[in-house]
Amino acid sequence: MSTFPHLFEPIMIGPVEVPNRICHVPTDISSAHADGSVSVRDIHHHATIAKGGTGFIIVGATSPQGKTGRSTVTCLVADGDEYIPGLARLAEAMHRYGAKCAVQLQHPGRQAALPRAGKFASTDMVVNLPWSQSRPILYASEEESLTRKPIHVLTTDEILSLIDLFAEGAWRVKQAGFDAVELHAAHGYLLSEFMSPYLNRRNDRFGGSFENRMRLPLAIIEAIQKKCGRDFPVLVRYSVDEWVPGGRELQESIRVAKVFEEAGVAALDLSQCIQESPGAGFDPMYYQEGWTMYASLAIKKEVHIPVINSHSLRNPEYCEKILAEGKVDMVGLSRQLLADPYWPMKARYGQVKAIRRCISCLTGCWQESLMAKKEIACAINPACGNPAFEIRTKASQALRVAVVGGGPAGMEAARHAAERGHAVTLYEKTGELGGAILGCCLVPGKDKMKWYADWIRDQVSQLPIELRLRHEPTLEELSSFDVVINATGARSYVPRVSGLSEKVVPFERILACPKVSCEFHPGDGRKPEKLEGTRVIVWGDHYPAADTAAFLASIGKEVTIVTPFKEF
Ligand SMILES: Cc1cc2nc3c(=O)[nH]c(=O)nc-3n(C[C@H](O)[C@H](O)[C@H](O)COP(=O)(O)O)c2cc1C
Ligand code: SF4
Repeated sequence: MSTFPHLFEPIMIGPVEVPNRICHVPTDISSAHADGSVSVRDIHHHATIAKGGTGFIIVGATSPQGKTGRSTVTCLVADGDEYIPGLARLAEAMHRYGAKCAVQLQHPGRQAALPRAGKFASTDMVVNLPWSQSRPILYASEEESLTRKPIHVLTTDEILSLIDLFAEGAWRVKQAGFDAVELHAAHGYLLSEFMSPYLNRRNDRFGGSFENRMRLPLAIIEAIQKKCGRDFPVLVRYSVDEWVPGGRELQESIRVAKVFEEAGVAALDLSQCIQESPGAGFDPMYYQEGWTMYASLAIKKEVHIPVINSHSLRNPEYCEKILAEGKVDMVGLSRQLLADPYWPMKARYGQVKAIRRCISCLTGCWQESLMAKKEIACAINPACGNPAFEIRTKASQALRVAVVGGGPAGMEAARHAAERGHAVTLYEKTGELGGAILGCCLVPGKDKMKWYADWIRDQVSQLPIELRLRHEPTLEELSSFDVVINATGARSYVPRVSGLSEKVVPFERILACPKVSCEFHPGDGRKPEKLEGTRVIVWGDHYPAADTAAFLASIGKEVTIVTPFKEF
């Protein structure tokens, strides 16, 4: 019997039997072709998640009208029958491994990445998000850059045509062979804008009262049921708490749940936040596992349909517990399946330690990919979204490979080379593997970084990799290898400040754990850095600067951050 019996229990979503309680909550991987049709990367990515054992896979935001709104520049589109064959290949790729699947239909409304100056796209996705402000924002015209994008109030005719577009999109999803469709009514996108007491400023029959704000999503559900039949399951994802003053809170969300159940919705997919409260939607590293469980616990008491809940769920033990306690019917994983699509399989077969847990850094999958208008990636899983990794085989000829540098890049390179059967020697000049990630030890709220450090070091220790610690190889030594991989990493730039040179220190020295017995001590015999005085200037504005400032503030220093940019 599995250690996690509740996790691997089947469940019904409408008439569809799902093999287990693990749901891939919608994740736009922005990997479609430029016209929004399904690409090889889309198929590879979702098939890998199905192969990894996830029972129910909801494909991320797919536009019912690509011309007026796409959430990312290369999200999927389903606004014409010509998209059906690609979607059918996508559904088939997941069904092959026994997963059930759905597509999430979403119109981004004001949060469109495309079109940049279209009338539905009242703001650009990267505007006003705190973590993007140091990036230049490119506007389509000078006029647009002065005025930003105008808010366009949808006319009744436009709303009515949207209802048809959603229904037709759902019909294409069904025609392609998907088991269900989901409406994206969370996170401040179009349907969420209508439902939200904070965002909806209309004074016609689509705005104001609760009934009026619910009118559009309910009309779409009814139209889908007419077009696809009531036995084709419709799910709805919405934000239980919007986390803005005047936004929807739990009490109204319970009412929303009951109204959706009455309208024939097959399952609820609970989420959090709108774009004005982004930290809650894409939980940062310091959020605790289970912080959203209050929502499903309250809503499950009021409805009989399955309730999916997600956000920062990472550990199978915890997921098993909340299922067993009846706090949720299905556990939703998004980023965890980017970091390790084999999470379900590893949990099922007792390989929990082998799970590469997502550290919620949001660098690979958000900041450096979707926000930069590129395809999905993961900072700790180089295989994420990349079909090239699927065809990795044992090397026909084993080579002698030297990897110089025992940080994350060096360890990952050594791991891949060893798995392919090469003879690997890994050199690290300090006494500890880890490199830059060892700096995670002291920074408040960064404990999850240790998960990755532990995982990758454990992987290296289990492979036949020769480790040479406290050793910097000479050229002669390296010349005996077939391949040398340089992974010595970056070094911080330390400015010369006339007359103050002894007071200027690189951040690595500040963030290094001073406890020699700690597994994150750099092991290079360094003495703890003693910072005299209380006032400190941190020069720089990226992650290391923020981490250094947070640590210094946590030990009582008075910190000033200096940056050449207008905004931090
Ligand atoms: C790269 C990325 C893409 C996402 N795309 C969608 C989406 O298309 N639709 C949606 O409802 N939520 C989307 N989300 C939000 C996730 O479904 C999820 O709610 C959030 O990441 C928190 O859960 P997690 O900690 O399991 O990742 C996305 C999140 C990320 C990181
Ligand atoms: S990039 Fe970071 S947040 Fe995103 S999936 Fe990978 S580990 Fe998680």
